[in-house]
Amino acid sequence: MTTTRDLREAAGEEPITMLTAYDAPTATVVEAAGVDVILVGDSMGNAVLGYDDTLPVTVDEVKSRTAAVARATDEPLVVADMPFLSFGVDESDSVEQAGRMLKEADADAVKLESGPHTVDLTERLVELGIPVMAHLGLTPQHVNQLGGYHRQGTDEDAAAELLELAEAHAEAGAFALVLEHVPANLASSVTEALSIPTIGIGAGPETDGQVLVINDVLGLSDRAPPFAEQFGDVRAEMRDAVDGFREAVEDGSFPAEEHSHYESDVDDVY
Ligand code: KIV
Repeated sequence: MTTTRDLREAAGEEPITMLTAYDAPTATVVEAAGVDVILVGDSMGNAVLGYDDTLPVTVDEVKSRTAAVARATDEPLVVADMPFLSFGVDESDSVEQAGRMLKEADADAVKLESGPHTVDLTERLVELGIPVMAHLGLTPQHVNQLGGYHRQGTDEDAAAELLELAEAHAEAGAFALVLEHVPANLASSVTEALSIPTIGIGAGPETDGQVLVINDVLGLSDRAPPFAEQFGDVRAEMRDAVDGFREAVEDGSFPAEEHSHYESDVDDVY
């Protein structure tokens, strides 16, 4: 079983792989492929729950999906993403909501979309035994504040602020840091400066690991960000299977003999 300690030790040694998953069957595929970390991301809002963004996602939704992933897997570290406003408003409420992910959903850690408001909270959660993965750069829960899903850390001040925040979260005890949609050279400097692993998404090749949203990887997304790569065409496979079912029912070839059973006793019922 992968632990937060294993990830810390992997920093700079071997690439860390992380993918999102939101259900048991997908999680088992991700586990079988040997991926180190499963993030039950609030990207489930767009990916599987039909919302336009991640803001409506609730603690109960993440909790239920995290529990499904945790039940289905043994090896990968399972990280539950804390949804918008479930943390950072009030400390004791934040601790309680994060704690539910470990106590009730069997998560191994939580991820917080981070900023100046999460440094003390990270320290408190870690002190209480709740491992924290920090997340800087593009934080999609701030989409309204940012006016879209734009690149972050693109000028000197923003880059310096990001580096400072990364160091503050590492010092507060975060065991890893996600860097989203930031320049590759900035991600490289942050990686160099930290002893905890960085996991990039749209952050170039020099982070300690890489993460993508599973729907983008599988080819299930309507729209994918420019930094994602589609490694399969699962939508086309699903479409073929569903077309096959409909056609077989319509032309009478399904159900066939092998899908049916007959009992002589019921011949006289009518
Ligand atoms: O919610 C999510 O899937 C994420 C990843 C994109 C890092 O935060």
